[in-house]
Amino acid sequence: MYEELEKIKKECMSCNKCSLSKTRTNIVFSDGVANNKLMLIGEAPGYWEDQKGLPFVGKAGQLLDKIFGCVGLSREKDVYICNTIKCRPPENRDPLPEEKAACKKYLEAQIGILKPKIIMICGKVALNSLLPDNAGSITKVRGRWFDGPFNSKMMPIFHPSYLLRNDSREKGSPKWLMWQDIKEIKRVYDTLN
Ligand code: URA
Repeated sequence: MYEELEKIKKECMSCNKCSLSKTRTNIVFSDGVANNKLMLIGEAPGYWEDQKGLPFVGKAGQLLDKIFGCVGLSREKDVYICNTIKCRPPENRDPLPEEKAACKKYLEAQIGILKPKIIMICGKVALNSLLPDNAGSITKVRGRWFDGPFNSKMMPIFHPSYLLRNDSREKGSPKWLMWQDIKEIKRVYDTLN
């Protein structure tokens, strides 16, 4: 598993299939543990991710770690974290279709090698890459289970950046909904052997 991932990572590090290769500082391939249980797929690297070469290390990442921590999970021992695309789009704009297309094989390889039983689809860019166009908006589909590749179960969840912009913890608020979703994910995670 590790050797296969390392091989793809090496390939990715010299990738110049789209113009983001000209502006990136680092490839952001993955963080966390390679395992066959839980994978989180985010959108795209931001400033800090590009600087450090690791996903979710900025403010959104700190919140993500807290959310995992609330249910006793962590990137150090339980979750493999990656993004839909591996290079930072300038000014953190949404990735263009041709950038997503150029990067697709790396994400597909990560999923194909790990075959995770649970995939967390984090935010709308990941949602658009992993579910059909007619699946609905993130607000509509978050918290629902979908069938994914290799018999996985996939759940769309809000992106932590969205939660950072919405402070309320009241019932029905984005933070409250995330809490329901992470508890459900942990419930199913605990049934895996
Ligand atoms: N947002 C993402 O979707 N991914 C990251 O790695 C950082 C911020």
